[in-house]
Amino acid sequence: MPTIDNPTQKTLAEQGVQNADQVCELFAQVRNSFDEQLARPADEHANLMLRVSWTGRKSGILTQVAENWLRKAPASLRTVVGKQFNELKAHIEAGLDEQKQRIEAGTENVALAEERVDLSLPGVIRPIGSHHIIRQVFQEIEDIFVSIGFSVVEGPEIETPYYNFEALNIPEFHPVRDDMDTFYLQLPKGAPGPLLLRTHTSPVQIRTMEKQLPPVRVIVPGKVYRRDNPDATHSFMFHQIEGLAVDTDITFCDFTGTIEYFVKQYFGANVKTRFRPSYFPFTEPSVEFDVSCIFCGGSGNASGGGVCSKCKGAGWIELFGAGMVDPAVYGFVNYDPKKVNGFAFGMGIDRLAMLKYGIDDLQVFFQNDVRFLKQFP
Ligand code: DAH
Repeated sequence: MPTIDNPTQKTLAEQGVQNADQVCELFAQVRNSFDEQLARPADEHANLMLRVSWTGRKSGILTQVAENWLRKAPASLRTVVGKQFNELKAHIEAGLDEQKQRIEAGTENVALAEERVDLSLPGVIRPIGSHHIIRQVFQEIEDIFVSIGFSVVEGPEIETPYYNFEALNIPEFHPVRDDMDTFYLQLPKGAPGPLLLRTHTSPVQIRTMEKQLPPVRVIVPGKVYRRDNPDATHSFMFHQIEGLAVDTDITFCDFTGTIEYFVKQYFGANVKTRFRPSYFPFTEPSVEFDVSCIFCGGSGNASGGGVCSKCKGAGWIELFGAGMVDPAVYGFVNYDPKKVNGFAFGMGIDRLAMLKYGIDDLQVFFQNDVRFLKQFP
């Protein structure tokens, strides 16, 4: 076992000390060692430990020095050793006492510093987040529809083909399913299925009508999924708001009037709307709503000359699909198609946000770049 070469455990003779200078040097070493230990940060407990190890009666270093150096010193060195010993002892005791006082005083200072409150210091400024722009647009559109009597409902993002397709009058081999070629879930063997990520919010039309009798006036915000490659206008996940109004006396005029009201509330009173015939299996007739181009005011001309790049000179921008609910759909929810009628619509929120705020790349919504998000506080 390696042993520590501790000079205080050997006599002076054993260390070959023969004259006063060597004695002084030896004492200086011990003193340095004490000073080094005293300089370390200490609390009351550490101060006590240091005191025990240096001045402890039984095995403290001073006792060893007295034992091994002083008592066993040759007569010629006894005076110098005695003098050095007394000086060392006084130095150590004074050092320990002073440290103790400093600790006691120091403790009081720390307590004071902790309790002090400086009201003139600037506060901690925490950055305040905000709703994502898509969430804000959802909110804005929900507010418009709620103000005219619609309620907001939600539905599951994982759907059965029945709700996503069949009950919406889209039988298994209907060609519109091709547009919605989508994500099916891999289910454990024996699990009832199949299940898919919903391709639109329209299934919630069925879920709502199953649960309640007319009158129905709901909008359905939510996420939808399709197997699209990401680019400036496509994403495998995007957002829609579905709308459905069913009652006993809803006309095509109520339908177009409601849509026009919404579009003017959302884009401003100066925009015009129009609809064109279209096709959806769950509406009859089906239409596509357009809004007069918000970038060129519907003129089709860019302000700097040439053709408006947003509407490509058409003066109109395609907004979303809609229509009067196909009577076949009522058959799936036990409504009497002879007694009720209504309208439905489904709009892409990302597209509506891009149009209103002049954003030309859909992907920025999903990248969570704070430089972009901060522009919509
Ligand atoms: N679900 C359709 C889609 O995602 C959008 C749609 C069109 C919804 C017409 C409707 C509607 O409710 O009446 O492409």
